[in-house]
Amino acid sequence: MSEKFYLTTAIDYVNGAPHIGHAYEKILSDVIIRHKRQLLDNVFFLTGTDEHGIKIQKTAASKGISPKEFCDENFSKFESAWKELEISYDKIIRTTDEQHKRTVQKIFSKMLQKGDIYKHSYTGLYCSGCESFLNPKDLTEDGLCPDHLVKPEEVTEENYFFKLSKYKDKIAEYIKSHSDFIIPSSRVNELLNQLENIEDISVSRTKASVQWGINVVEDDSQTIYVWIDALSNYITAIGYDIDNPDELFKSLWPVDVHVIGKDIIKFHSIYWIGILMSLEIPLPKSIFAHGWITINQSKMSKSIGNVISPHDVIKSFNLENPDAFRYYMASAAQLGKDGNYSDEEFKEKVNADLANNIGNLLNRTLNMAVKYFDGEIKPEFVTDSKCKIAIMAENTKNQIKDAFNKFEIAEAASYIVTFADSVNKYVTENAPWTLAKEGKTDECAKVIYNVLESMRHIAIMLYPYCPNISTDILKQLSSEIDFKYDNLYWGGLKTGKIVQKDNIKPVFLRLDSDFAENKKKGQ
Ligand code: ME8
Ligand code: MG
Repeated sequence: MSEKFYLTTAIDYVNGAPHIGHAYEKILSDVIIRHKRQLLDNVFFLTGTDEHGIKIQKTAASKGISPKEFCDENFSKFESAWKELEISYDKIIRTTDEQHKRTVQKIFSKMLQKGDIYKHSYTGLYCSGCESFLNPKDLTEDGLCPDHLVKPEEVTEENYFFKLSKYKDKIAEYIKSHSDFIIPSSRVNELLNQLENIEDISVSRTKASVQWGINVVEDDSQTIYVWIDALSNYITAIGYDIDNPDELFKSLWPVDVHVIGKDIIKFHSIYWIGILMSLEIPLPKSIFAHGWITINQSKMSKSIGNVISPHDVIKSFNLENPDAFRYYMASAAQLGKDGNYSDEEFKEKVNADLANNIGNLLNRTLNMAVKYFDGEIKPEFVTDSKCKIAIMAENTKNQIKDAFNKFEIAEAASYIVTFADSVNKYVTENAPWTLAKEGKTDECAKVIYNVLESMRHIAIMLYPYCPNISTDILKQLSSEIDFKYDNLYWGGLKTGKIVQKDNIKPVFLRLDSDFAENKKKGQ
């Protein structure tokens, strides 16, 4: 069977509209999946929305609408944001989908029958922001949730509990023996420490406190805990079933990577792994925990009033397509680290890389191809795949593949830019305009060929980040619009008359800050 790649994102709470933190994760995931599609045929990208829980119940109530209506409204905001950003998922699951709900009930029943879920009376501190009970020793000095800075509510209930403690040693063993499981690996110690103190977790809430959720089939008074519901999406969405899973599930599971934010790593690498062990399902190959996006170096929050939506950015810079924003976001942080968004940094980065470095290089060279060779690439212009620049292109391709295998998405982008820098330098050093003036036509032709063939490579390598710009570059080179890595070999540039003067246009226009600022004020 051919190699497959199955990627999931976290499913977003629909208690508001998507912001650029949500967008960051979906863009990273989309960049990874587009890269994988360049290499493999069997690729599946799942995203979705998390629609149950007390927070959604309360917000809907405060708006005087039903939770489902509230979810529908916000779901469509997520759906249209992902469309605008060209997030190429294969499926978007909602936890209110009937099939999902049925399968979650079966999952709960199986764990109950197995004796891994039991009933128990409990008093704990519940944070509705986390949708989780908190350990008192994890609170701030003032007794607040460290993530949401709100006082958790004391709850005493008879709930169902999952015997997570039974699996604790096995989970630790799995984490320790699979060095590629937790990415970045710098998070492993923190997780192992958390595991040492892990206790059984509550996996249901009474109907009296939470109605908006999936019912426990065996017990009318209880609702299934929202995290059990949410985590299960990764298998219910692809047709998992206790006795008779779909072919899709069989062909995709175990998942290759769960892409999530650093704040929910415990739920994925401890709770979820325990659940899968209980269900006797193979474990995920990796969990990639990305960092958080701040705005002008501060945490995004409704109370500060600095929440930015991806649409705000696209609109305020009047972007034709999402490429520049995708590129910026995907490059915003090194593996697992936090990144920052500011209008200024955004503008500088995309002007430098996309307009100046890559766009200008293409533009200048296409113009030279027209001026010196009437836009024609003759077969004798083709250079040896052992020439210096061809080897650089080949090395860049390999660096990128390696980086993607390690989920180093920003790093992979930087290799493209470094290569484009080198090609720019190569043009300066070889001065094709001087060669042309001196009548060294053959030499000049080789330089032009090398640059245009490098540009074709750059278009293909840049594709996961900037699908529109990449398509434009290939079009201007009269190349086939096909981004498979099979096309990434030296000498693949079409020969013949490939450039027409009238077709040359900038692939990316510099963002003018005054223009953008005026737009924002004027609208
Ligand atoms: O946690 N920067 O949903 P959510 C980067 N429903 N990523 C951010 C971010 C930021 N500023 N803010 C949020 C949930 N995220 C659960 C997930 S999965 C089975 C259930 C990321 O809407 C966050 O880390 O609060 C998470 O991965 C995703 O957005 C959804 O967050
Ligand atoms: Mg959250």
